Amino acid sequence: MNDQVFNTLSKTTISLSLLLLLQAVSGSAAASPPRIISFQKGFTQLFGGDTNLLRSDDDNTVHLHLNQYTGAGFKSSNMYNHGLFSARIKLPSEYTAGIVVAFYTSNGDVFEKTHDELDFEFLGNIKGKPWRFQTNLYGNGSTHRGREERYTLWFDPSKAYHRYTILWTSSKIIFYIDAVPIREILRSPEMGSDFPSKPMALYATIWDASSWATNGGKYKVNYKYAPFVTEMTDLVLHGCISNPIQDLSTNTCMEIDQQLETIRYNNITRKQKSATKRFREKYMYYSYCYDTLRYPIPPPECVIDPLLRQRLKENGRPDFGRRHHRHSRKGSQVLSSKLYDIEDED
Ligand SMILES: *[C@@H]1O[C@H](CO)[C@@H](O)[C@H](O)[C@H]1NC(C)=O
Ligand SMILES: *[C@@H]1O[C@H](CO)[C@@H](O)[C@H](O)[C@H]1NC(C)=O
Repeated sequence: MNDQVFNTLSKTTISLSLLLLLQAVSGSAAASPPRIISFQKGFTQLFGGDTNLLRSDDDNTVHLHLNQYTGAGFKSSNMYNHGLFSARIKLPSEYTAGIVVAFYTSNGDVFEKTHDELDFEFLGNIKGKPWRFQTNLYGNGSTHRGREERYTLWFDPSKAYHRYTILWTSSKIIFYIDAVPIREILRSPEMGSDFPSKPMALYATIWDASSWATNGGKYKVNYKYAPFVTEMTDLVLHGCISNPIQDLSTNTCMEIDQQLETIRYNNITRKQKSATKRFREKYMYYSYCYDTLRYPIPPPECVIDPLLRQRLKENGRPDFGRRHHRHSRKGSQVLSSKLYDIEDED
């Protein structure tokens, strides 16, 4: 593992991600290319009032505040049957223990018991410690089969904007940070309905998750440092707008589905592949695929990398609390379940 590679990488990722976006925008399938969407055009506020959700004059930037009274959040006005969801995000700095900033897709408002979800969840940390985050997915209410991975980052996410992207097609899911595909899930037939398959909306929230976010709840939100502000800008929504209640067998989404299969974000270069590998070897410290206590037989989509298995073992799996919590994303109406508390070490 080579630090230099990552330093170079982080310097070039901003321009690279812009390039990717531009390539996607100017791609051959120009019918409705990925585009930056203003708040007014694409989103509605969920909670936080006028004081905790602030929009820029050009309406392309949103500031979400968390203070002792409330957090803030918004969601896309439409639901999408597959899509590319993306934003440039800057996280709160300094003491951020207990704070969760979530950027995710879900349909929990519509399908309470059988919801689908794809998550980026940033988990705060005490002063001087790096932000940690996790990605996860649920399909058709598979909340008892979490597929969490946890990582640190190769940069300080509170210092500058970085682009976070979720690509969801009928055959795969890719989580991106800038130009680096940090996680790819290929749909395997054995996954069945655990692979998200119903239209979802995009959500972005900041909230107090003192009970579990940082080191399994050891460090709480300290409002002496409030307000905690996360900034989100240049939001991209590109997918087939769908009514989740309608018959999903109609073919109206075929064209966009096809586009999603061929856009730049769905075509990982060799260079990106090695960046993925480097990222996972160096920054991933937990993966459900290697958690044999929890899953004696890894779920079907897991591709076990012997090197990673060895490393995660050598580094020791974080202690697991076998506590099952239900956490409500306060105010967002979305009941999501962080069923598995991964107790990060200090
Ligand atoms: C989703 O779950 C519900 C309830 O368990 C079940 O009835 C339904 O068949 C599932 N859908 C799929 C596509 O498997
Ligand atoms: C992916 O990219 C490679 C090289 O840039 C290109 O040759 C190939 O046709 C692309 N594939 C798709 C499905 O776009």
